[in-house]
Amino acid sequence: MCGRMCPSGCISSSGDGSPAFDSGRCIGCGHCAAACPAGAFSTGAAGGPACDPAAFLELCRARRSLRLFTDDPVDDDELARLLQVVGFSPTGVNACGLRVIAVRGGEVEDLLAGPLRKLMKALWVSGPLKAAAALARMRAGTEDFLRGGDPVYRRAPLVLLFMAPRRNPTWRADGIIAASLVMLNAQAMGLACFWNGIAEFAFRLVGRRRLPGARGFRLTAVLCIGHPAVATRPLPPRDWSLTDGSGKPLAAHRGG
Ligand SMILES: Cc1cc2nc3c(=O)[nH]c(=O)nc-3n(C[C@H](O)[C@H](O)[C@H](O)COP(=O)(O)O)c2cc1C
Repeated sequence: MCGRMCPSGCISSSGDGSPAFDSGRCIGCGHCAAACPAGAFSTGAAGGPACDPAAFLELCRARRSLRLFTDDPVDDDELARLLQVVGFSPTGVNACGLRVIAVRGGEVEDLLAGPLRKLMKALWVSGPLKAAAALARMRAGTEDFLRGGDPVYRRAPLVLLFMAPRRNPTWRADGIIAASLVMLNAQAMGLACFWNGIAEFAFRLVGRRRLPGARGFRLTAVLCIGHPAVATRPLPPRDWSLTDGSGKPLAAHRGG
């Protein structure tokens, strides 16, 4: 079983039938330990699903993005608990190697929002941003930002930048999966959270140089997190479809 699970073929039968392990080929994925019926590599007791599926569905159902935060910081203990899930996130090369950059409190303005505002002011005065904002119907939001408001980061006390090593062939998915786990964990912990695509775009313009910790990594996702200032209500599920390969619907999914 261990040998069949092993993606790099480290485990084989030696002449007398006992297993042989070629550690030179091992990529450290742990699939052998996860499935070995004899527990030869075991890192803990094998178990069933760790979470009640109905409870997990409820967590997903109740999740909403939220952009209204109290002024309370996300403290070190909360940050550690929130990010624990990153260590269990799958990556294409198995080695994980992800980096999460936590920008907190006043640093959000100093490192991210302030420099973006400065750049946008220059573009606004010279013209192109005014036209682009009008076209995208974002003139009011852009003007608010230029006046010192924060429609981008929403004064979130914690901004998490999910970085994946440039060398990871599956870097984009690696980071997005980890961010998705953190989003769900935030929901489970009662924290407010929203994805920030604008901040992702802005990072390419102004963030990279200010965060030396980003060197050698690519940004895959940005989450803004804090304590909720209001409670959210679940909304009805969104529409999606399930088909076979020809496009024929297999079942109607109106999410209910
Ligand atoms: C990749 C991605 C980028 C997003 N970017 C932003 C953003 O820049 N600003 C924002 O307020 N919300 C952003 N969102 C949040 C979506 O607007 C929000 O998730 C969507 O309206 C669905 O609402 P829900 O998360 O409450 O279900 C983003 C969501 C995703 C998945």
